Amino acid sequence: MKEEIELHDENPSGSNPSNNPWLHELIEQGMNRRTVLGGALGVAAAQFLGGSLLSRRANAAVGAGSPLLGFSEIAPSQDDTIHVPPGYVWDVLLPWGTPLFSSVAAFQLDASNTSVDQAGQVGFNHDGMDFFPFSATPNERGLLVLNHEYTDANQIYSAAQGSAITADAAGLEKVKKALAAHGVTVAEIYKDTNGQWQLQVDSPYNRRVTGETPVVFSGPVSASHPLLQSSITPSPLGTLNNCAHGKTPWGTYLACEENWNGYFGTESATWTATPLEARYGVSKTGFGYRWHIASQRFDLEVNRNELNQFGWVVEVDPFNPTSAPVKRTALGRFKHEGATVVESRMRAVVYSGDDENGDYLYKFVSRKPWQQAIAQGESPLDVGVLYVAKFNPDGTGQWLRLQFGKNNLTPANGWADQADILIRTRQAADFVGATRLHRPEWITENPVTKDMLLTLTNGTGNNSAVNSNRDPNPYGHIIKLREPFGDHTRQTFTWSVFLLAGDNFYDTTVPASQSIFGSPDGIWADYDGRIWIQTDISNSSQNRADRGYDRIGNNQMLAADGVTGEIKRFLTGPRGCEITGVITTPDQRTMFINVQHPGESTTFWNGLFGAPSVTNPTTVSSFPFGQRPRPTTIVIRKLDGGVIGT
Ligand code: FEO
Ligand code: CA
Ligand code: CA
Repeated sequence: MKEEIELHDENPSGSNPSNNPWLHELIEQGMNRRTVLGGALGVAAAQFLGGSLLSRRANAAVGAGSPLLGFSEIAPSQDDTIHVPPGYVWDVLLPWGTPLFSSVAAFQLDASNTSVDQAGQVGFNHDGMDFFPFSATPNERGLLVLNHEYTDANQIYSAAQGSAITADAAGLEKVKKALAAHGVTVAEIYKDTNGQWQLQVDSPYNRRVTGETPVVFSGPVSASHPLLQSSITPSPLGTLNNCAHGKTPWGTYLACEENWNGYFGTESATWTATPLEARYGVSKTGFGYRWHIASQRFDLEVNRNELNQFGWVVEVDPFNPTSAPVKRTALGRFKHEGATVVESRMRAVVYSGDDENGDYLYKFVSRKPWQQAIAQGESPLDVGVLYVAKFNPDGTGQWLRLQFGKNNLTPANGWADQADILIRTRQAADFVGATRLHRPEWITENPVTKDMLLTLTNGTGNNSAVNSNRDPNPYGHIIKLREPFGDHTRQTFTWSVFLLAGDNFYDTTVPASQSIFGSPDGIWADYDGRIWIQTDISNSSQNRADRGYDRIGNNQMLAADGVTGEIKRFLTGPRGCEITGVITTPDQRTMFINVQHPGESTTFWNGLFGAPSVTNPTTVSSFPFGQRPRPTTIVIRKLDGGVIGT
């Protein structure tokens, strides 16, 4: 890309020439919030915090514990259900298989629904999620948009079908059902007169985006790029392994493609991975799905370049159900966990972790103010600069440009153009000297402090301060990243560890007084600066004493005060699940979360009750209905109608 972006030069004049401290710095120095707000900084601080937040917090009781976290913490649990604090209730909203239209077949408990049925039903393994309120009734009606990350062959196929993919029409139908269960669901939902949330069946906005939905490419990498040419899908189809997400200021949804490499494989004896393919973990066996047995689309030998159509951030306009999802290539190609959008200096800034042990954190900054770009008919996500993070041991850091012609990303060093850099994003980041991290997952902006909070779920090797100085690091941690003046377009930052996850019984570097948890993954700051943290302990470690995970229980959700770091457990999930995806209505009185993969095979529960299979899928869990386990969106409300978390 040839644009030079002056905005990103260091030491811009900014809008504040003073050396005044920032509000969060004063708070962290121990000053009373009321004193800060009542002093000379009061007016600016009030604007910074927003009026409603300010009044709510100024009135909060001062005493032991954070006023943000008013609920009674619950204990860890191994129960096969959801627990929430006293005074809260939860309901099932969108379980896998729910028909979005009255013309679609009902969910069949024996998993005999066809691929066609599935394409009109809520997908499987719900993950990242956001809420798009209707302007007239923002707290009672809107569009819930959620990702479906992957499928479990023990659960989505009937006993008659079996779990294995065969090289025949029956095998292809099973691949098509799995593809139909991936992607994105757009569902209109509303609160009924009893205060219960319901799906609006047959809403014109209801939609499924699947692994077979026509998609378009935009930005520096065109669909006609030689490395994207597929013999099976000359017009690109679908999105896969949609993990976390983002929401843009212009009202669209970003679905991210994470472990897409696992779907591809081959029986060819002669196929070997190129350096590019090897860097992205592409192998003959993939993750064992064996889709390539029935569908040449996923055969690495037959259809070499199909895989380069994946690894992108995909923009979906939930209010335009006939619009094609758009792969926004300027944001790079890797295993995108999420794509968290922050508006800063009118630019769209998108943060995204590449969730693999030893991979990186990226951010994209739009070239123009996003409203100007849109007014000029251009997507803010198509033109801008992609950066990768370098974390120095002293708590400073730099954002390194992944821009053709910069940082020696030149033809002399083997870089052809910006499209080449974007298709090979991981290798470009290696080349410029990015810092290897312990599996960067979700990232969120604390609206109170403008800090970015990043979960590093767990990892081994790469021992360093940013990786918690723990190697191995089976519990993970959360780091805080602060850009100068809260300006997210800058090229430098400072960082520190916000919270170490773990259990002091096994790891004394974790404070004994802190709530025990491990493998933080989902993270979202609500509008008050309450940090919701969701865990995804691996199936091989969950509940196991020999992994230091027996006391932590099932996966869970906690809430932390984003300034003090105080943390309390708010929710525990059923067996075999991870908790992921969290959003509230604008008034914060309804919360939606996802229970992903309840009942999946885990070492601990399999040992007690046997491994789940197509003939017996309920050995680990029968959540939520005491039957075949179903990934599910649930709704959390406070009985007194109050703000969730208070
Ligand atoms: Fe899909 Fe990194 O979790
Ligand atoms: Ca995740
Ligand atoms: Ca995870």
